Amino acid sequence: MRHLLDWLDIDETSWTSCIRDAQRFADHRGTDAERFLGRALGLVFFNDSLRTRVSMELAATELGAKPVVVTPGSGTWGFAWEEGVPMTGGEAEHIREAVGVLSRYCHGLGVRLFAEGNDRQKDVDDVRLKTFAAASDVPVLNLESAARHPCQALADASVLDRTFDGATKGKKFVLQWAWHPKPLPMAVPNSTLLMASRLGMDVVVARPEGFELDAGVMDAARRQAAAHGGSVSESTDPAAAADGAQVIYAKAWGGFERYTDPSVEEARRHANKDWRVTTDLMARTDNGLFMHCLPVRRGVVVDDAVLDEGPSLHLDQAEFRLHAQKAILSMLWGAGE
Ligand code: CP
Repeated sequence: MRHLLDWLDIDETSWTSCIRDAQRFADHRGTDAERFLGRALGLVFFNDSLRTRVSMELAATELGAKPVVVTPGSGTWGFAWEEGVPMTGGEAEHIREAVGVLSRYCHGLGVRLFAEGNDRQKDVDDVRLKTFAAASDVPVLNLESAARHPCQALADASVLDRTFDGATKGKKFVLQWAWHPKPLPMAVPNSTLLMASRLGMDVVVARPEGFELDAGVMDAARRQAAAHGGSVSESTDPAAAADGAQVIYAKAWGGFERYTDPSVEEARRHANKDWRVTTDLMARTDNGLFMHCLPVRRGVVVDDAVLDEGPSLHLDQAEFRLHAQKAILSMLWGAGE
């Protein structure tokens, strides 16, 4: 049985064929209504969503499968996670039974399970996602966990590959930290970095001091870049990073100090409020394209004009979530194009 928890677990052939499948699904929407007739896809959302929820429900439906959405603690029982601890709290059901039961009804399970923000190693290692997957008898698809967002990564890779006619290698791609009032988790920046380095792009992680990404993810990205003819570097100067870039991908994330000293992390984050993507910053690029996974805070992460006047790929990225997830379902259920 195959899960999709992280693209690092998936071989090059499958990754490349998923990009091609996503692009084919984009060109032929709604032509595969018989492909997975009779199958059920459980979608467990521990956290809010617009794009992932709607695009996963549509992806399953347009391939003939039946999506069933579960929101733990809101219309279903709350789930307990601890092992060997008497369940005397508010949760009526353990995750082992909950996932075990769902995998008797469904042929695949998607799960959204964000970082808890209490235990750094637990979040970096995606312990709760792995616990969920271990309890399942059917393929599990990560719909954004503490540390990865593979659905977003495949959509973004498919958009970039199409935008540059397959010539992503050597293009300058800036993963640009942005200020945000909350210390957001690192799933998207991690997966974006790994995605762009796997496309052989020259990736610059532009971020202030204190907002480094996990060293293991940086190492994995450097290995991906080396294998695909690209590079990975870091900069604390957003203007210099933007110079000559073909892509500015903005994302806010919190620093690791949130786990040890939240007030220090908050003060450091607020001291960098000027890290926002402006038209002046975009003017330094080489006709650069703006990207963001959405939702995005206008006037905080990016100026309205960058989104409204472009060039920006943010709506293409959102659209490709649908096509990419059809490709992923086809891979997991063994019927890729
Ligand atoms: N980009 C993304 O995953 O959007 P949602 O949080 O709305 O699903």
